[in-house]
Amino acid sequence: MKLLTITRPDDWHLHVRNGAVLKTVLPHTSRQFARAIIMPNLKPPVTTVAQALLYREEILQAVPADVDFTPLMTLYLTGSTTVAEIKKAAESDHIHAFKLYPAGATTHSDSGVSDIKAIYFLLAAMEKQDIPLLIHGEVTGEHYDIFDRERVFVDTTLSDIADKFPALRIVVEHVTTSEAVQFVQAAGANIAATITPQHLLFNRNAILAGGIRPHYYCLPILKREPHRLALVRAATSGNSKFFLGTDSAPHLTSLKESACGCAGCYSAHAALELYAEAFERAGALDKLEGFASFYGADFYRLPRNSGTVTLEKTTWKIPSSYGETGNTITPLKAGEELSWKML
Ligand code: NCD
Ligand code: ZN
Repeated sequence: MKLLTITRPDDWHLHVRNGAVLKTVLPHTSRQFARAIIMPNLKPPVTTVAQALLYREEILQAVPADVDFTPLMTLYLTGSTTVAEIKKAAESDHIHAFKLYPAGATTHSDSGVSDIKAIYFLLAAMEKQDIPLLIHGEVTGEHYDIFDRERVFVDTTLSDIADKFPALRIVVEHVTTSEAVQFVQAAGANIAATITPQHLLFNRNAILAGGIRPHYYCLPILKREPHRLALVRAATSGNSKFFLGTDSAPHLTSLKESACGCAGCYSAHAALELYAEAFERAGALDKLEGFASFYGADFYRLPRNSGTVTLEKTTWKIPSSYGETGNTITPLKAGEELSWKML
């Protein structure tokens, strides 16, 4: 029996939603991860410390008994965010970052920022308060090809933010291109990135070859194979700037399998196993622990976890759906086999 034991990991980018969906998805995460950075893109978005603390209580209610799980809350940055709220967030033990969505870039981003330069004074306040900024790094606008949106954001917006705020801690969320990887590698120690399981395992063929597969549609969209390979090299390199963030983003099956399906892959059901598969294929299982359990905690200046989790090398089949009939969520690789299973 082949076993892999690592320090209990954390998920540094997670959507858990609220209400019934929260109750379905949270146990999947809390079984594997000790902590998770919780995305604030609810409807309406979580923009204040007071709202985040209420949301945190709702999440804690959904954690199964006897499971130790800590939600790390974030606030949604908008054109109306105030310097006073940034100070309040930085002083809270429960708020760990602000999330910047360019308006219209992704699911529930309509409250996001339409003119990023106009909120530079808020980034200055974050830099001063030393609270991290998490960025969805894609330009918006119909004239940009969807496969180019991250690269253009890196060239134009991200490099300017990095220049103007050299001490601001930034996580470039869910990097999907070799250009974003290179940017993060070349940047100072204040800039890091998360990488999702789907961007390590699949290229854009998964969405489009042989039929349209909506459960592989997420934003930033899956890219060409050379980009996937660049992500695998970054994740398995042992470079502490790259760490685990699933971007698990549940949507009801009916909203994915639709004429206009929502963006987001649900991966929390088997997150660690999916990463193990990607690292094993790269011959780098020995690098999984740093990526999954150490580097994110170090970047956020939180203690590393003390417990462990164990995966067994064994084949199992992912269920075709989770949740109640009529309100199901279809997981990534639904009905397919995985070669690692968490004990
Ligand atoms: C996310 C969601 O559904 O909230 N969707 C996605 O495709 N990743 C939003 C996001 O992180 O972009
Ligand atoms: Zn996300």
